[in-house]
Amino acid sequence: MQTINRLDDLRKAVDALKIGGKTVALVPTMGALHEGHLALVREARARADHVIASIFVNPRQFGPNEDLDAYPRRLATDAALLEAEGVALLWAPTVDQMYPQGYATNISVSGVSEVACGAARPGHFDGVATVVCKLFNQVRPDIALFGEKDWQQLAIIRRMARDLDLTQPHANAIIGIPTVREPSGLAMSSRNQYLTDAERDSAAGLSAAMLHAIAAINAGADIGDTLARLNAQILAAGFVSVDYADVREADTLETITTFSGQPARLLVAARIGNARLIDNMPV
Ligand code: PAJ
Repeated sequence: MQTINRLDDLRKAVDALKIGGKTVALVPTMGALHEGHLALVREARARADHVIASIFVNPRQFGPNEDLDAYPRRLATDAALLEAEGVALLWAPTVDQMYPQGYATNISVSGVSEVACGAARPGHFDGVATVVCKLFNQVRPDIALFGEKDWQQLAIIRRMARDLDLTQPHANAIIGIPTVREPSGLAMSSRNQYLTDAERDSAAGLSAAMLHAIAAINAGADIGDTLARLNAQILAAGFVSVDYADVREADTLETITTFSGQPARLLVAARIGNARLIDNMPV
């Protein structure tokens, strides 16, 4: 596996990988890799000739009071994991390579970016869209893989890719991979390491409460009543606060107040200890 941190080197290495019409899959990450990330890499390996993974803790997607400095960075361990999974190239740019002096362009996807985490974290999804757009332009992959763990992020990237003609003209260029969970049900996340053991136990109550709410909605319970009960259950499990708990249309993320079998997603963000955890599930 080659590890590259300069854009001119990346372009040459990507061109070399594509010789003979070989296909390339891109897996963007911020590192501190866990089994969720590796599930993306394994699916990428199955679907393309070569996998390019990126690790870049993107400053533009962190708010002023967020965990940019504390975010775990362990490039050597991550590189060994990626190499063992058969990744051909690790793109690990410096901040200066990604955003050189004078950088001034922002990508903002309206609508789907404005609700849920977009309302709670102003500018976050502009930062995500901007860096993912740059990664697409840098690598020009045949396919790119993202986790359903970050459902809103996936919906935004799909919208942006369509709007800006970023991907190959086939329907499945952006592939969503189901959330990988701990045996307790807790969705794996690089941020779970901010949790104490006791908080980690409590955090497992989130997915359990969500499954309960989905069963109720499918059995015909009122969405508003169900979400109110879900809120109370999340707090009872030991969370400090619930940023949001909503049922939304799966692609546009418009609010759903009456469920009639349309593609829908239950999305939750809640705080426990020093961490803000997100989770989502199909309804
Ligand atoms: P990061 O949080 O490192 O996640 C990288 C990719 O792994 C994302 O597509 C995310 O949805 C996926 N992922 C994380 N946890 C997962 C889990 N438990 N199961 C399945 N997939 C999981 O998301 C980002 O980085 C950044 O915003 C990025 C897209 C790289 C742009 O900076």
